[in-house]
Amino acid sequence: MPHTAWTELEAAARRDADARIQDQFTADPHRLARLTLDAAGLHIDLSKQSWTQTGLDAALALARARDVEGRRAALFNGEAVNLTEDRAVLHPALRAPNGADFRALGEPVSAEVEAVRAEMKAYAEALRSGNETGASGRPFKTVLHIGIGGSDLGPRLIWDALRPLDPAIDLRFVANIDPRDMAEALIGLDPETTLVIVVSKTFTTQETLANAALAKVWLATALPAEGMTKHFIGVTAAPDKAAAFGCGRAFAFRDWVGGRYSLWSAVSLSCVIGLGWDAFQGFLDGAATLDRHFLEAPLERNAPVMLALAEIYNVNGLHRPARTVAPYAHALRRLPAFLQQLEMESNGKRVHCDGSPAGRQTCPVVFGEAGTNGQHAFFQQIHQGPQVVPSEFIIVASTDQRTLESPLWANALAQGQALMLGKTETQARAELIASGASEDEADRLAPHKAFPGNRPSTAILMERLTPQTLGALIALYEHKTFVEGVLWDINSFDQWGVELGKVLAKALLKDAATGTPSEDLDPSTADLLRRLTT
Ligand code: F6P
Repeated sequence: MPHTAWTELEAAARRDADARIQDQFTADPHRLARLTLDAAGLHIDLSKQSWTQTGLDAALALARARDVEGRRAALFNGEAVNLTEDRAVLHPALRAPNGADFRALGEPVSAEVEAVRAEMKAYAEALRSGNETGASGRPFKTVLHIGIGGSDLGPRLIWDALRPLDPAIDLRFVANIDPRDMAEALIGLDPETTLVIVVSKTFTTQETLANAALAKVWLATALPAEGMTKHFIGVTAAPDKAAAFGCGRAFAFRDWVGGRYSLWSAVSLSCVIGLGWDAFQGFLDGAATLDRHFLEAPLERNAPVMLALAEIYNVNGLHRPARTVAPYAHALRRLPAFLQQLEMESNGKRVHCDGSPAGRQTCPVVFGEAGTNGQHAFFQQIHQGPQVVPSEFIIVASTDQRTLESPLWANALAQGQALMLGKTETQARAELIASGASEDEADRLAPHKAFPGNRPSTAILMERLTPQTLGALIALYEHKTFVEGVLWDINSFDQWGVELGKVLAKALLKDAATGTPSEDLDPSTADLLRRLTT
């Protein structure tokens, strides 16, 4: 019974809480082998996590009790796993090789996926070769990508991770409704050589429509009305709305593609234009390889499952409601922002699938920063703060810019080591004495220089950051997020929590237009509104 499995996991975690992680390597000579995994070009090391073998066994028992394998089959079979919207969730269909046969609620979708891929490829190649030009016959030099949330974070991550330093066609991204974002993006751009791609699954998102309207006005300053359609295109699950908005062409995807899972679709058209089709195909292939691993590997060797179990162990077993992600690669600096949406929008839920209270902590707060920058900001707290924040290090062995001498990976390894080993007050005191401090000074400073250690971390290594390893990495996190949702018994694929604020903002805009706060406004909000409108 799942309830018993949870109880067992919590009891095992209570026992593990005081065990020292480094001692586990001597207690269990197989620990490293058991807790390191390879999947789709990624090497994952979970051996610096807090669990003992008993804890791991309890976590695996929970995965079995929650029928992770059955729910995984339901996802890949295109069943309505998004229960509140009665939708299939089929992003794996978007990266499957040609010839696959995915079905969303029984309806075949793979042929349509292949058709859109072919359309994207042809369009991007025409643009890149200069065959498809702007209205005045000049080739496109820039793509202005407008979108927010899932229509922004994924493509931005891909572009930053894989972009050439001096791209033939550059990409600019605009998400924020603050016009400053658009103003900055337009610096130096020429409407005659700019393609605007408006990306919105719903084509109703306030920020995106406002920015698209700004971009249309900007294009119209230099282009004849009849030429606009070549410069203004949409990517959406609502092509009729895109056409009504003035998009000359629309690339479609379906409602079984969640916004935060949409970067495998035409949502990444800008990246296809900037990087070329082969790179994008490599990205899809890397994810498809990880999909196969997720489908085929036994639970205890399954990378997404094991990452999810490590998280649950920390969050629910050891009451650690936050996790930091530190990619040690400048090109992956957007990963923490991407994961915040992927994980917190998916699993930041408080009720079970049947609507009953979840009763336990679900998604942790996910935050992070590229290494080594994060070390000089919030890592003080990770090392010495009173609360334990599990860390995740993404390490790229070699990059185009540097060779294996890069100090980046050494820093990442050092952080994991320091977090696990710590430094006792006695050690700190001895070091102070050895460096010439007086006994009194050593007594005074030692508590400040001691590290508790025994803080867990995970390392994810890749040899190089390529389209394939990037695709695999993102798919790894997607499936980890899904498995966690299964374990917590929550719907990972809706996001009702973002709706209330949108509705209230619309009402406030009405109040702002009349200049009078409506009578039912609370005193604080009414006062703030008055201050902002007078
Ligand atoms: O407000 C949240 C959200 O609905 C996200 O889930 C989504 O990624 C984002 O807004 C953008 O939505 P759209 O692609 O429909 O513009």
